[in-house]
Amino acid sequence: MSQRPHPTAPASVSEFLDQFPRVDTYAEIDEILRSPDFVQGSHFESKPVFGGSLVVIDGPEHRQRRKMLMGMFSHAALRRNEKEILAPAIRHAFDALAATRGADGLVRVDLVPLLRSLTIVISAHVTGVDGAEEPTRRARLQALVSKLEAASGVEWSTRDHTEVMAEGVAARRELIRDFLQPALDRRIALAAQVRAGERPEADMPMDLLGLLALHGEDGSGGEDAQIWRECALFLVAGTQTTSHALPHIVWHLDPWWADHPEHRARAADIEFLRGAANESLRLHQPVPALLRIAARDTVLECNGRAFRQGERIALFFSAANRDAALYGSDVDSFNPLRPFGRKPPPWGLTFGSGAHTCIGRALVTGLSQRYDDADPTHGTIVGVLQALYQAGAALDPAQPPKRNTDSYHDAFASMPIVLHHL
Ligand code: HEM
Repeated sequence: MSQRPHPTAPASVSEFLDQFPRVDTYAEIDEILRSPDFVQGSHFESKPVFGGSLVVIDGPEHRQRRKMLMGMFSHAALRRNEKEILAPAIRHAFDALAATRGADGLVRVDLVPLLRSLTIVISAHVTGVDGAEEPTRRARLQALVSKLEAASGVEWSTRDHTEVMAEGVAARRELIRDFLQPALDRRIALAAQVRAGERPEADMPMDLLGLLALHGEDGSGGEDAQIWRECALFLVAGTQTTSHALPHIVWHLDPWWADHPEHRARAADIEFLRGAANESLRLHQPVPALLRIAARDTVLECNGRAFRQGERIALFFSAANRDAALYGSDVDSFNPLRPFGRKPPPWGLTFGSGAHTCIGRALVTGLSQRYDDADPTHGTIVGVLQALYQAGAALDPAQPPKRNTDSYHDAFASMPIVLHHL
């Protein structure tokens, strides 16, 4: 199996993470994430942008809010996202790319910005930001969200942290004024009509701002109000994670096909691509570590390990996802044909576990017949991969990919590709 060194192997984050006890086995991490004895320990420094949002609250408040927001990810919502949002966004992007053909007749593009321009449309749709399909508006939204993204992950930034936070807070101000408040106002007016019986509830968009408007949120409390932190979470989580994850799959597939030419014909096959996505998600994590705090003195059932109340711990699921007892002896290899079922999840702990498990997971991976649903959907990753491989995507041999250097995220800053059949 092809095992070339990965150019995105994260640089050391040891100064920050070495302060915390290290947890890196699957059983320990899974137990900690599912246990009420541990609470959220991430996003301390990024509190000004994420504080009070779903990912940092715990207990009954978290359960109640999560239940209210689950409607955003219903089966119908996932299908609509694929057909009415993702598919047209890909079509428009490819139409625009077809006009950039080089003298040799081939289309070349950097996959990283291409993905960002697609994922921003999806996260805008999920959050309820109107009009993100329009190119100028989308470019501005994207620029603002990328500042917010850096601030939300300031713990992992290699830049000056004060500057990153200041830029994030300024970007949020502009986002509220030009995108979020107008979208919320529209939904508040719709919610009033629904309550007065002048419109059916089906007219209410099932996006974040729509649901919050239905539950009486009005945006009062200024730019620091909780509603805007929730929007920041969904805009960032919906954009950054997927655009970080997808290039890894393309990077793994090219050499894998060189070693397994008999599978090249399956490049646009949904089930094959699902296996490739699962495997790459297992091998590459969205953050260097998740952090948790022991809410009380606790002893783990799986191995008797003890933690003191208030102790902050770092969960390294990169190591946990390479547990040979769970995934087989070739666990360090990328194997898109690895069989998978419900337990353990094919992507390991990459979407977390327990109360804070990624709420957007099914949007990204689709609903798989073998994993979770009799009526599958494709998911954003497979949807984009299929379109790329139908267009003949391959890494550009003349321009190698480059690693992200402004943070410790396991991500590419640039991945030039050629679309041979567009
Ligand atoms: C490859 C894609 C993604 C990966 C790997 C990923 C990973 C994760 C992980 C590990 C967590 C748990 C955080 C913790 O326990 O501290 C999480 C939570 C979350 N994710 Fe994702 N995510 C992805 C895509 C998305 C998308 C597309 C959205 C929204 C559109 C989203 C929204 C969220 C939210 C709101 C939470 C907090 C849930 C809660 O606390 O109840 N994620 N994600």
